[in-house]
Amino acid sequence: MLSGLKPTGHATLGNLLGALRFWAEDQHDADALFPIVDLHALTVDVDPDALRSLTLELTMVLMAVGLDPDVCTLFVQSHVPQHPRLTWLLECTASFGELRRMTQFKDKSAKGGEGEARAGLLTYPVLMAADILLYDVDRVPVGDDQRQHLELTRDLAMRFNHRYGDTFVVPEASIPKVGARIMDLQDPTGKMGKSHDSPQGTVYVLDDPKDIERKIKRAVTDTGGDVRYDVQAKPGVSNLLTILGAVTGTPVEDLAASYTQYGPLKADTAEAVVAYLRPVQDRYAALAADPAYVHTVLDKGAAKAEGMAADTYARAAAAMGLLPR
Ligand code: TYM
Repeated sequence: MLSGLKPTGHATLGNLLGALRFWAEDQHDADALFPIVDLHALTVDVDPDALRSLTLELTMVLMAVGLDPDVCTLFVQSHVPQHPRLTWLLECTASFGELRRMTQFKDKSAKGGEGEARAGLLTYPVLMAADILLYDVDRVPVGDDQRQHLELTRDLAMRFNHRYGDTFVVPEASIPKVGARIMDLQDPTGKMGKSHDSPQGTVYVLDDPKDIERKIKRAVTDTGGDVRYDVQAKPGVSNLLTILGAVTGTPVEDLAASYTQYGPLKADTAEAVVAYLRPVQDRYAALAADPAYVHTVLDKGAAKAEGMAADTYARAAAAMGLLPR
């Protein structure tokens, strides 16, 4: 299996509950690869110094969450040159129309208009397909927002296999039942995202406990004081119930039945999130004290990933008729 994390900002509680917490379990069930996808970060404005430090920070967050470099392969996408190389081959099988219809492209290009949008924003899903197809993976655990990208990956793999002969494994998305979509605390109709400009609505994995408590206690709730899980009518309260359910492992309906007011729900959610993040933050602090070790992990990860990616790339290039060296 494989899944990636984009270093466009600090890791959020949404990343953790929608994806990272499952990766730590998944690594024991399968050969698992976890790229920090830095090439993807270039599709948005990110300062070069910030990109460098976020890449290391997210690597350490993944290790703090429980990814064990002796069990899984942890690496930086740009360290493995087959990612952009396979992207080109796949771009020559994808159509302009299908990329233009991707929700993320439509959303992110809406502001400045399509003409102003970076070409990389349009072709980003193909790079993501290359990330996945290079490693012959069966399963890709992601949050709900990545569903459409996974569909495109499957389409591109099937099209390629049909046109050029069996080359790629067609992967399945694996989307969690609880936590697949954690919403912004200030705008519970939009997802909690690391690259959004909503620091008050976003809990970061490395946030100070006092900040976590303040953000959750100030979360926007809904009109009508009753506590019910109803995403349409009560998006704010439902989001808090989802978060509390994910960190305590309790079904949201059971939680909803045990609260009659927003205040105690917020206080308990804040306390549970702080307790959930504490061991992660402690492990992060220990890793941050030894950056040389983290670089060694990434070197080893890139060498291992490249060994696998080189085979798949060569297979795809040969299938398309590129002359082997
Ligand atoms: P990224 O970095 O935005 O998010 C990483 C993972 O976190 C999940 N996630 C969420 N889950 C629940 N609630 C939220 N509010 C929330 N926000 C983020 C995402 O679904 C994702 O699983 N395009 C990908 C990165 C990528 C990738 C890949 C993923 C590049 N190549 C190959 C899998 C396989 C992205 O932007 O994720």
